[in-house]
Amino acid sequence: MDLNDGKTVSYALVPHKGFNLINGIHDPDDVDQIYNLEIRDSDVFAVTYPKSGTIWMQQILLLLEAKGDVTAISKHNTKSNADCIPWIELSGCREAFIAAPSPRWRVTHLQHHFMPAALSQRKGKVIYVARNPKDVLVSYFHFHKVANMLETPKDFDDFFEKFMRGDVFACSWFEHIKTWYSNKDDMNMLFITYEEMVQDLHSAVRKMSLFLGKELTEEQLANVVKHSTFHNMRKIPQANYEQVPGYLLNHHQGKFMRKGTIGDWKNHFTVAQNERFDEVFHREMQDFPLSFIWDIRDIE
Ligand code: A3P
Repeated sequence: MDLNDGKTVSYALVPHKGFNLINGIHDPDDVDQIYNLEIRDSDVFAVTYPKSGTIWMQQILLLLEAKGDVTAISKHNTKSNADCIPWIELSGCREAFIAAPSPRWRVTHLQHHFMPAALSQRKGKVIYVARNPKDVLVSYFHFHKVANMLETPKDFDDFFEKFMRGDVFACSWFEHIKTWYSNKDDMNMLFITYEEMVQDLHSAVRKMSLFLGKELTEEQLANVVKHSTFHNMRKIPQANYEQVPGYLLNHHQGKFMRKGTIGDWKNHFTVAQNERFDEVFHREMQDFPLSFIWDIRDIE
């Protein structure tokens, strides 16, 4: 693939232990060693299936650490928020994690079975952010057009099929949430949804700050919320990946911070696709007591 800034890269999905990694971005041997990482009580992992609000968590965590002071995070942030709170699974990030001073805050899209075993001995903390999978699918479809490391879908129908088969980076949404959710009681885990965050960001941020043991004043908390709204994050280059190089994200194809709402799937799914999705969702999730908000009008 020859990209506009002159770099030539070749990416492909690499199936690895029931999961799809991306060649050139992840190293399977490195990913395997994540399981054995020593975990400190102060370590925090924000876990998401792609397109569920990872960038949002990076912004909120940075702001919580900075007690709402947005100038403090932009001062340290010469690149993007992802440089401050990176994915543990990216090549080279594991070594950096081992050497990093506390607190070590990371994000991950990995399946539960790759993650440090120590998390299941209640070491460190995990925040799992789940998003309704119809909106995940739509957001992921658009992201495939922006992300040069992912194959551009032929059209929405083609991507719909790929997502349903789990033939994408991170594989099946259903497997991801089910395995993490099934193991939640072994871990110090806060389970939260994207929709809860859209509905009442203040309560969601307060919940996170309590969970992380961060003592913020009401004013500081209000500042965290203020600088992590969709509207404000879009104005902060570090918070919306504008500085990510063109060989990774083709910024001409669209913004990473796209719509930030609930229910955009209604503008994409056909009636037949929706019926099929509902049927699969019901079958896959029947033993899980999880319900999602599918339409922004349900919370307005
Ligand atoms: P859309 O494509 O539906 O707009 P991730 O970081 O996991 O890739 O998730 C990206 C999705 O989260 C995008 O969804 C993005 O717009 C949305 N998002 C990021 N920050 C947000 C915010 N502050 N409020 C609402 N949605 C946000």
